[in-house]
Amino acid sequence: MIRSTIRGTGSYLPEKILTNAELEVLVDTSDEWITQRSGIRERRIAGPDETTGDMAIAAARAALDNAALTAADLDGVIVATTTPDRTFPAVAAKVQAALGMNPGPAFDVQAVCTGFVYALSVADNFIKAGQMKRILVIGAEKMSSIIDWKDRTTCVLFGDGAGALILEASEGEGTLEDQGIFSTHLYSNGAFRDLLYTDGGPSSTGTSGHIVMQGREVFKHAVTCMAEVVQEALDANKVTPDQIDWLVPHQANSRIIEATAKKLDLPMDKVVMTVERHGNTSAASIPLALHEAVADGRIQRGQLLLLEAMGGGLTWGAALLRF
Ligand code: UT7
Repeated sequence: MIRSTIRGTGSYLPEKILTNAELEVLVDTSDEWITQRSGIRERRIAGPDETTGDMAIAAARAALDNAALTAADLDGVIVATTTPDRTFPAVAAKVQAALGMNPGPAFDVQAVCTGFVYALSVADNFIKAGQMKRILVIGAEKMSSIIDWKDRTTCVLFGDGAGALILEASEGEGTLEDQGIFSTHLYSNGAFRDLLYTDGGPSSTGTSGHIVMQGREVFKHAVTCMAEVVQEALDANKVTPDQIDWLVPHQANSRIIEATAKKLDLPMDKVVMTVERHGNTSAASIPLALHEAVADGRIQRGQLLLLEAMGGGLTWGAALLRF
């Protein structure tokens, strides 16, 4: 059977580091509050002329290098983002042109912080259907562009960056020993769309708006939804938590991640954590964390990885794969 395997990974982080101490000057907050409530100590902020597309291109180039492939080897590109350079065309079109890819599918997926899991699922299904053999999947965000820098309840949480991977069709036996994606699980419940949103958009205000969040409510849903979807991914593949080598979660809040790990009875040394240094980079957080742990040698070929995310929509999802 056809499996989608990860051929290579890459990432990009902007140079500018914004610390909690710097935020103390901007709004009525403290390093202690931010660290205790979210686990975040610093985040990266893109330059004024640096766009989501620019970061996506840098991460994509790194993934191509890592995979020892060229743009001509790719059949398509999917970018998960909530902060596109323009309302249209898609950021994916900019990436396609910058890399010099051949014409093929190039589009964005918008599922906020769950965007990367959605994009991965879409790409996996294209590969399994035999429509594409190699797809570049990117999560890229300039969250700083939709932050209200006067709102202390949100401005301390988010950061910018991009991560990418290349999915490739390969032959599997249809067993858990295969390399590649075993299953993806996607959800949204639009009834909760007012818990986390931007107060603007092209067809309403004509602006992109700023992030508005009922943090405490989102937190409660995050803990419940994450536990459920992660269990669903394990059950679907008859996997027990002790078989998981690495949990690579969306990085919104260290307390949410710890709660998920605890439910699974996974020790924290099996969890990839970047939230302390990256903050919440929305759709970019999982591929950023994945690449970091691959690059520093923690994640090894053949290991079983569980990815999970939750975000505006409310959306949530998980993926189980062997690296
Ligand atoms: O990635 C997409 C999904 N998003 C998430 O998963 C985020 C989910 N939510 C969270 O991570 C947490 O709810 C937060 C980190 C956003 C907030 O933590 P919390 O423990 O839920 O705090 P809270 O919102 O209940 O606020 C507690 C207090 C409030 O004061 P009162 O009402 O108790 O007097 C806030 O006004 O903390 C106050 N507060 C702050 N104080 C200092 C809110 N923001 C700040 C701040 N600095 N930056």
